[in-house]
Amino acid sequence: MESVLHEDRVFNPPESFRKTAHINSMEAYREMHRKSIEDPESFWGEAAGSLHWYRKWDRVLDDSEAPFFKWFVGGRTNICHNAVDRWAEGDKAGKKAIVWEGEPGDQRVLTYADLKREVSRFANVLKSLGIRKGDTIAIYLPMIPELAVAVLACARIGAVHSVIFAGFSAESIKDRVLDASSKMVITGDGGWRRGSVLPLKSVVDQGVRECDCVEHVLVVPRNPGGERMECEMQDDRDVWYDEAAATVSDDCPCEEMDAEDLLFLLYTSGSTGKPKGIMHTVGGYGVYTYLTSKYIFDLQEDDVYWCTADIGWITGHSYIVYGPMQNGSTVLMYEGAPNHPDPGRFWDLVDKHQATIFYTAPTAIRAFMKWGDEWVDKYKLDSLRLLGTVGEPINPEAWMWYHRKVGKERCPIVDTWWQTETGGVLLSPLPGVTPTKPGSATLPFFGVDPAVLNPAGEEVSTGLLAIRQPWPGILRGIWGDAERFKQTYWCNWDGKYYFPGDGARRDDDGYFWVVGRVDDVVNVSGHRIGTAELESVFVEHSNVAECAVIGVPHEIKGQGLVAFVLLRGTDADGSDELRKELNNLVAEKIGKFARPEKIIFSADLPKTRSGKIMRRLLRDIATGNALGNVTTLADPGVVESLKKKYSS
Ligand code: PRX
Repeated sequence: MESVLHEDRVFNPPESFRKTAHINSMEAYREMHRKSIEDPESFWGEAAGSLHWYRKWDRVLDDSEAPFFKWFVGGRTNICHNAVDRWAEGDKAGKKAIVWEGEPGDQRVLTYADLKREVSRFANVLKSLGIRKGDTIAIYLPMIPELAVAVLACARIGAVHSVIFAGFSAESIKDRVLDASSKMVITGDGGWRRGSVLPLKSVVDQGVRECDCVEHVLVVPRNPGGERMECEMQDDRDVWYDEAAATVSDDCPCEEMDAEDLLFLLYTSGSTGKPKGIMHTVGGYGVYTYLTSKYIFDLQEDDVYWCTADIGWITGHSYIVYGPMQNGSTVLMYEGAPNHPDPGRFWDLVDKHQATIFYTAPTAIRAFMKWGDEWVDKYKLDSLRLLGTVGEPINPEAWMWYHRKVGKERCPIVDTWWQTETGGVLLSPLPGVTPTKPGSATLPFFGVDPAVLNPAGEEVSTGLLAIRQPWPGILRGIWGDAERFKQTYWCNWDGKYYFPGDGARRDDDGYFWVVGRVDDVVNVSGHRIGTAELESVFVEHSNVAECAVIGVPHEIKGQGLVAFVLLRGTDADGSDELRKELNNLVAEKIGKFARPEKIIFSADLPKTRSGKIMRRLLRDIATGNALGNVTTLADPGVVESLKKKYSS
């Protein structure tokens, strides 16, 4: 592995920011970090003490069955109580919890008192439809307040939520619903995206056709109290949320949960064809998202915090809902596209709602750069005090643009590295402390002890990222597949380190530079897509004999997908029609966002003599790099013909 990035600019936290930050000196960070590593029991015990527990834990960490770690063993709590009730009854009852804007410009505000009422009512509707603690519920909603409300309502009564990003196809819904045996699907009559309405309910109808486990589909109207959008309802199964809500009380006590009870499943792509249900539990995830939000976003009483992710991904779970709300923060939520009605929309939202913290993905930043400075220059953005990025490595050029154009050279940038599996951020600057370098996620958060290793387990400057000891937010497993959990994350280095699947470099200051995945997972616009997943979709087509999908650098998306497709019979060229069919198949089986940039039809693929496709060579072809070693190829001529096809 090679890291070609050399960046030596350093940006210190502005003095004005440092002065009021929760943590404001490198010495304090180092001391807290040392303590968190040497004595995790007392560090995390203290952190958890800021939250509400019905019963205090007996032990902070039980690692006797590693890698199946348990945190806050014996403790009983409820994360919805911590995120909502704690604020709804005190002097923050009137504080804004959610400030929401729809794509067409409609707005809603929920105070913490409103949120408690809405969540309780939602929870009572779930109960009235037979949902009990431990049941799993799939949620397929647009970015409307009810998405956050539904998630919190599940947590309130101990139902396990499995949120499915509303861009996934019917087939993906089916796979996830069946894998988790979800008893209910919560969806909506529609949501706005780039000026059109997403027909969510009909996608769900198609998705659950063969899912006998689903007893009810609960349909939330996009416009509460207003006009409903057109959708078909099935008498014995489908229920309008507003009608059910009218008949229940808005008082619903929180269920006392064991710290290790399952809070949610979230499916993510790995290096096999089947997405995996990542398991997170109540106590550890709660404490970890609470503390990371507090320190990494330096949340203060009057912040208006905006994370642009969708709640359908882990970023939205941890840093729209659970983290900021457990800190009693005001969260801005936006339904639609960043360039609707024009590419100034995000900046208009920042000014209009006076957002102080803005957290987005590098792919969005690169899109803004492409749309032109005039859109961002039109707005003041003077409410902003902190910026963040997540989802993929940020190129220094995009970092500098973000720093100058959005942050006006005044706002620190926290480049946060983490994953669905880690529950919360593991590597990030602390904004009042850490000198930042464009492109580096800098240093570990408390309790995180990372290293860069070679396969033999020796520390190297560039190699595989590894995490030495567990932290409270670590995944507890893969739903229904303990073996895959062990194989995927714990098979290297005698199981002594968590292996995230990323490569990294460590510089002389000890800063981490995450360079990207080292497995067959591609990060497209911050969405994780397994190449094997796409390959298995392609080979379902009767004309396709074999296929290899690779990730290639992409100017806006970070990475794009290229599929090399070997057709059955003698047809080596494929038609545009077939290309369309394959694209449609991907949209149908996974979702539109997973469609490849390019499909190359070929009569052959470069293979070793034992028949293994040499993806490394395909990558060289796609990136125009000098070809690596071709001596092991069964037929070296294949590469030349592919090169010609790729560039034509
Ligand atoms: O490769 C890393 C990349 O995104 C992967 C995790 O994807 P996902 O589980 O979908 O979660 C995304 C949001 C947390 C990682 O394995 N990644 C995420 N953040 C960064 C990153 N790569 C470099 N720098 C980051 N800040």
